[in-house]
Amino acid sequence: MAVTAVVGLQWGDEAKGKIVDILADQHEIVVRYLGGNNAGHTVMFGGETYKLSLLPSGILRPDATSVIANGVVIDPKALLNEITSIKSQGVQLGKLFISDKAHVIFPYHVAEEAILEARRGDQAIGTTMRGIGTCYRDKVGRAHAIRIGDLLRPALFREKLEDIVEAKNIILKAFDPSASLPSVQEIYDDYMGYIEQLKDSVIDTTSYLHRELKNGSSMLFEGAQGSLLDIDHGTFPYVTSSNSSGCGIQAGSGIPSRMIDRVIGVVKAYTTRVGGGPCPTELNDETGQHIRDEGNEYGTVTGRPRRCGWFDAVATAHGARVSGIDCIAVMLLDVLSKLDEVKICEAYEIHGERTTDFPSQLDDLAAAKPIYRTLPGWKTDITNVRRLEDFPKEARHYIDSVSELLESEVGFVSIGPDREQTVIL
Ligand code: IMO
Ligand code: MG
Repeated sequence: MAVTAVVGLQWGDEAKGKIVDILADQHEIVVRYLGGNNAGHTVMFGGETYKLSLLPSGILRPDATSVIANGVVIDPKALLNEITSIKSQGVQLGKLFISDKAHVIFPYHVAEEAILEARRGDQAIGTTMRGIGTCYRDKVGRAHAIRIGDLLRPALFREKLEDIVEAKNIILKAFDPSASLPSVQEIYDDYMGYIEQLKDSVIDTTSYLHRELKNGSSMLFEGAQGSLLDIDHGTFPYVTSSNSSGCGIQAGSGIPSRMIDRVIGVVKAYTTRVGGGPCPTELNDETGQHIRDEGNEYGTVTGRPRRCGWFDAVATAHGARVSGIDCIAVMLLDVLSKLDEVKICEAYEIHGERTTDFPSQLDDLAAAKPIYRTLPGWKTDITNVRRLEDFPKEARHYIDSVSELLESEVGFVSIGPDREQTVIL
């Protein structure tokens, strides 16, 4: 397949990085098109663990080209730190291109986010505090936005920065009189230093990607976050600030969705969520803790324990529909192996009515009571299974149920963190 996309269908952390890594050697170009260093992708192979955040997973393949496209928001300091850290693990990095249209995260974005989140109190979104939402907001608002291309024009950059820092000081001090920002000069010097190190990678990635498509190059679009965190289609306002479902590919890269041959929807065999907002199948009990322990469900970016629960087919099917998937990858199935029985939420009861539509309003979602289908557990170690027919029948039944409820074929089943621990159909 020439052009493939990998998209998370839940609230992020579906182990997308593993599927991307498996597919990366079949694709010449790997593209990140949304989000920023709020993402945390863990890739394991050869006994080494690699933690990626902004860099596309293709970076671990020396012969692949990685692209950070226009839809990504870039904290250049975080990007440089990540490059240094991956290099220090002995990886020979592949080629990297960065879009000149990508927006840049500044210290005032992080400062403003901290204030806004604190003001929300117990309604806090529970963001990753990386300045992602405030940077996207400035992108849409236009007045206070700086793109990577601006950093290559020092006089223009300086002029914009002076105006923006003045405005940001007014805004921040209005919220918190004790707030203080680095000076224009400090920010200018820091960012000129960052761009000096990154400038050879900066190009118009849209033109590049179209040229490569014309040449017949294969491409892999690497999703970050998940469909239920999508700003338009997710559990607003407990979402991220970009289109993190399949909807974001076109806007975030300039490549129309009809040019994508195959979309793989990645799902965890259960549910996790970090941050606030309703999560109907969440388990605040021993089973929830068991899943958290077995799945090591602690955030890669922030270290927060993830909220865990049963697989929610209502929410995930919604993610699958808006993303337009061709098949699913069922991840971390082995995490459920010790349970006597496993449950899948197949419908919600909301105010006395059964529905399989995912509610668009937060109060309805908060009121949703999951209606479960209970399946027998398999109680067997499945981490060495390599063919679908070798799964115990109960595990097979579980996989088939997920497939049926999502109305999608299964393309991959992952039964352990290593590249090898994958059943590919
Ligand atoms: P990956 O790519 C899980 C969540 C945050 C918070 C909300 C908004 O690893 O799947 P933000 O900082 O984006 O404004 O936070 O979105 N969130 C994620 N949750 N995985 C992610 O990325 C996430 N990126 C953002 O926890 O609830
Ligand atoms: Mg994550």
